[in-house]
Amino acid sequence: MNWRGEEVWQAVAPLVPGFTVEILPEVDSTNTELMRRARGGRIEPVLLVAESQTAGRGRLGRSWASAAGDSLTFSLGLPLAPQDWSGLSLAVGVAIAEALHPLVRIKWPNDLWVGGRKLGGILIETANSAPADAQGPRYAVIGIGINVRVPAAAGYSIAPAPLDELLPGVEAGDALARIARPLVDAVKGFESFGFAPFHTRFDARDVLRDRGVLLSDGRSGTAHGTTDQGGLLVHTASGMATITSNEVSVRPAAL
Ligand code: BTN
Repeated sequence: MNWRGEEVWQAVAPLVPGFTVEILPEVDSTNTELMRRARGGRIEPVLLVAESQTAGRGRLGRSWASAAGDSLTFSLGLPLAPQDWSGLSLAVGVAIAEALHPLVRIKWPNDLWVGGRKLGGILIETANSAPADAQGPRYAVIGIGINVRVPAAAGYSIAPAPLDELLPGVEAGDALARIARPLVDAVKGFESFGFAPFHTRFDARDVLRDRGVLLSDGRSGTAHGTTDQGGLLVHTASGMATITSNEVSVRPAAL
């Protein structure tokens, strides 16, 4: 696989002093690896790509399955100090969707969809980089998984969509080369200005907008976009609710 690592480094290094690109043939999970490093005091900015993950993780404790060669799995780790962390996954989703294809949409808060199927997902975790100073930067680990070709395996809760359907012949390294710089631009923009500048761009790709939705806490209603902090507005039987909890999952009532 040509990961185009040099090109990615050239595009990103001017924005992030000390930035490196690292490609591992195999690791349990790129997120787990960068969180492990952060706990050991290693908080340098890095984009870590895995050709293959043995224990890929998704949100809410789910696993993330991917086959070597058929998917892009990487994490961007860097110290970050936004005023408010809410909406980061939406800003990241906007950057990736725009970098990939006009038909890629975002399902709040962290899924990339094409049609009614899942193209990819985002898993963001943070570690304290300066334990003595709670207000200081944290080390953000932004993990991204994209289906490039879809394996024959079944058993997904939502059908996977492959990127090569939108971009015939695309390889995982090409997807990385498209995404890396816009992703870092978005993360840096989010650090300075929060989610607000991404709001309109998110709206243009919001899968749930004006659709009936079911929440995992039993509520249901109609989704009406997001707040300027990235919370999902849902009109429920008891009025307008803002969904912010990472522990609540949301799905369209009908696909
Ligand atoms: C989700 O859809 O719930 C998020 C999936 C995130 C998967 C990526 S693959 C690279 C990084 N390492 C992981 O273990 N998870 C993320």
